[in-house]
Amino acid sequence: MTTEAAARRRGPYGMEYARIEVPDLAASIEFLQYHVGLQLEQHDDEYAFLRADIEHHSIELVAAPQREASWTTAVGFSVESDAVLDDLRERVTAAGHEVLELADRVKGLVQRGFAVKDPNGLIVELFTEFAEYAEPPLIELRPLDLVHPFLATEKYEETLRFYTEVLGFLVSDYVGDVTAFLRSEDRYHHSLAIQRNKEFYVAHLCFMMKSFDHVMRGRARAQYKQVPIASDLVNHSASTSIAFYMHDPVHGPRYELCDRHRVFTPEEHETHRARRMSVDPRNIDVWRPAADDWGRF
Ligand SMILES: [Fe+2]
Repeated sequence: MTTEAAARRRGPYGMEYARIEVPDLAASIEFLQYHVGLQLEQHDDEYAFLRADIEHHSIELVAAPQREASWTTAVGFSVESDAVLDDLRERVTAAGHEVLELADRVKGLVQRGFAVKDPNGLIVELFTEFAEYAEPPLIELRPLDLVHPFLATEKYEETLRFYTEVLGFLVSDYVGDVTAFLRSEDRYHHSLAIQRNKEFYVAHLCFMMKSFDHVMRGRARAQYKQVPIASDLVNHSASTSIAFYMHDPVHGPRYELCDRHRVFTPEEHETHRARRMSVDPRNIDVWRPAADDWGRF
């Protein structure tokens, strides 16, 4: 490892969960079970925890009957050690952000942690030792991991600075000055993405399935139940994953089911220079035949 890499202040490890307010809790539980393959572990009238693999949960649904559509309020990222957590807290404080408490339901599921609001008001919870189960769910068609949130924001530069300069995410690639893919210490090509937009919203959450076959089975279920497929099969240029996106706004942001999201080697993680790709659909999906083929995103 080079001196530069050894001196790098580390970022969060990886995404663990999203917290989503939904108008109809029971219907959204059913949606996530059938269409994403999550297992319901714990719930009452107020909330539900659903998991993908051994981590305690990937999605926390919160009942919000006053809402017409869902709204993602928080994302949770694990941190490797107390030392990194303390360093992150120091950087957050030094940058003038308020250090907040973790949500009550999360406090008992981690060892230590804190929360901070990003420039859009999205709560980012950071913690060590997220609780886990001894066994993965006994469901064959399920995701292995929640990989990333994709944030659309009217504060693109400010958001990019927050996640890179304060929280220590590394830039993997840019598409023009429109999209930035950021990675954390789990070395996925991106554990967070930011897109310039007219307003803020969590645009999608990406789940990694076991295989392309399982992505296609998820797609078949979406077609069978007529869940809108917001973007059909895409062969991602930057992260090399193949995915589709489904979207029913009452149940959450778009859910991306993917196969083979690129994972950097430890060496690539320390040495990769962010590529600057032009704003061309082929730099998002290598299966686009021409520079003007934007229509199907
Ligand atoms: Fe994605």
